[in-house]
Amino acid sequence: MRILSIETSCDETGISLLDIDTQDDGTQVEVLANELTSQASEHEEYGGVYPTLAKRLHAQNFPHLLARICDQVATTSIDNIPKAQQEQIQKWLKRHPGYANGLIQLIQDRGAPTADVITVTVGPGLEPALWVGINTARSISLVAETPVMPVNHMRGHLLSTCVPHSHDKTFRLQDPPLPAVALLVSGGHTELIHVAENTTTKIGQTRDDAAGEAFDKVGRLLDLPYPAGPHVSQLAQKARQQPSNKDEEGYTLPRPMIDADNCDFSFSGLKTAAARLIKKRELLDEDTRACIAQSLESAIVDVLAATTKRAAHQVDAQAILAGGGVTANTQLREQLQDVAETCSAELYLCPLDLATDNAVMIGLAGFASYSDNPDEAYLPPANQIGADSRLAI
Ligand code: KG4
Ligand code: ZN
Repeated sequence: MRILSIETSCDETGISLLDIDTQDDGTQVEVLANELTSQASEHEEYGGVYPTLAKRLHAQNFPHLLARICDQVATTSIDNIPKAQQEQIQKWLKRHPGYANGLIQLIQDRGAPTADVITVTVGPGLEPALWVGINTARSISLVAETPVMPVNHMRGHLLSTCVPHSHDKTFRLQDPPLPAVALLVSGGHTELIHVAENTTTKIGQTRDDAAGEAFDKVGRLLDLPYPAGPHVSQLAQKARQQPSNKDEEGYTLPRPMIDADNCDFSFSGLKTAAARLIKKRELLDEDTRACIAQSLESAIVDVLAATTKRAAHQVDAQAILAGGGVTANTQLREQLQDVAETCSAELYLCPLDLATDNAVMIGLAGFASYSDNPDEAYLPPANQIGADSRLAI
């Protein structure tokens, strides 16, 4: 089946078209088209994602991405969108001046990508940003008569761990042995999920900041651009390659809850300790920044790895899965490798190109949700203006 997927939960606008087919020997995926635009540079001056700007940029970017998708795939022509439908789309997209007209014009000119289902992220995420994706999905659904399947963003990160490491446009989804434990670690979430045959259960989560948030907030204090995670990691690498003669002890940061008797996390104290460390240094030269970056990265990665190990023991995991933006971190990937070996579990790390937000993982989540319960895909009623209980955030 063909799945058109839409992701707008944070500061990445993504659309993809997947062709997914399940046979006796597994699930074969072909990425027919995949487009992604990051708004990171626009949010930089705010030091984080500014929701109103994110919403505006999603509406601005979407038609360009959709046009690029239409260049690559088969489309169904929709020459004349009836007036009543146009009015409905105007109502859904009324908060974004000019967007409805642009989208209607584009669809009339280019058609809509031919799909069996449209999947869209309905949460978790920034509410104004999510609504752009949801209302766009509803609009395309209305004119193309294609049902919409609401999906959870974190399920997308979870499913991305089943994509083979070095994958082409066509790949077979991996089928990890169960029970498994999944570490989902991103800018907004840090959680551990017990994945069993027919259920997924959250067994741990952050009590305050997410790991990615700790990277981003401390990185900002180190004058690094947003999102700071990859930059902190690069600086830390520099410190590792050119060990300075700085007093290492003075740079050690705490590892909150590393020995806890549960699988929760807490990164806010670590962030405060790092902020204090930065404030104490009068001169924040390159060496000092690199030492702090290394210390921060080691503390976060140690806690993530130790807690994942505890969770793996708790559920007797046969596999450890890890997805989300922070799993792009090389130190984390290496330490999870060690954890998996110690626990005699197989490791399923999401491929680097699918670690941060993207629409391919949303398409995979949409397919999984559809396979579980096809009745959840539906044609949104045309006369609904605001919230729709099935497309609720
Ligand atoms: O999954 P994601 O794209 O967005 C959310 O769903 O939040 O994750 C983004 C997060 C940011 O906090 C970013 O700094 C972090 O992932 N990140 C990294 C690295 N690459 C991205 N953190 C540490 N090391 C990296 N290499
Ligand atoms: Zn995410």
